[in-house]
Amino acid sequence: MSDDSLLMHRDPQTFQFAAGDSLGYLLYRSVARPGMQRDDLDLILQHARDSNRAAGLTGCLHHEDGLFFQWIEGPRFRLFRLIDLLSEDDRHLNFTVLDQGPLQQRLFGDWEMRFSDREAASLLDWLAVRRSQAGTGQDDAENITAFLRSMQG
Ligand SMILES: Cc1cc2nc3c(=O)[nH]c(=O)nc-3n(C[C@H](O)[C@H](O)[C@H](O)COP(=O)(O)O)c2cc1C
Repeated sequence: MSDDSLLMHRDPQTFQFAAGDSLGYLLYRSVARPGMQRDDLDLILQHARDSNRAAGLTGCLHHEDGLFFQWIEGPRFRLFRLIDLLSEDDRHLNFTVLDQGPLQQRLFGDWEMRFSDREAASLLDWLAVRRSQAGTGQDDAENITAFLRSMQG
């Protein structure tokens, strides 16, 4: 099965989650609130992990140069609820959905919310290389997903 066959549908920005407990995913980018400290991040992660465990959500959060990139997967009605909360959360700005849709199987099933930052690996450097290789029109969502998956240890 190719990686792409796991991502059945691409339609950023329009939230098309149906009610029900079928699996879905969300990939978004946002800008961390200015002045965010490591303690603030730890609180976000701690709460996210507790609450994701209860909701059956898994995924990963990457923080680099004041940007967040997050992949969240799980029952679509839970995702739908979380999108509302995330888009209202003033600890980050410019909440931008990069990709979303139904999912056949989880990519991060072992993680309530894995965390990575530039010290682990640079997503922005990865994107710069991919963009220069592919020229314009390259799908960032696909590259970001590939980066996040490559970080699974
Ligand atoms: C960058 C970032 C990532 C977050 N990730 C999650 C998450 O994975 N799961 C979650 O439940 N809340 C996450 N949150 C928090 C939600 O935006 C929201 O504050 C929280 O779900 C509200 O929970 P409560 O209703 O229990 O207070 C995140 C917040 C930020 C700023």
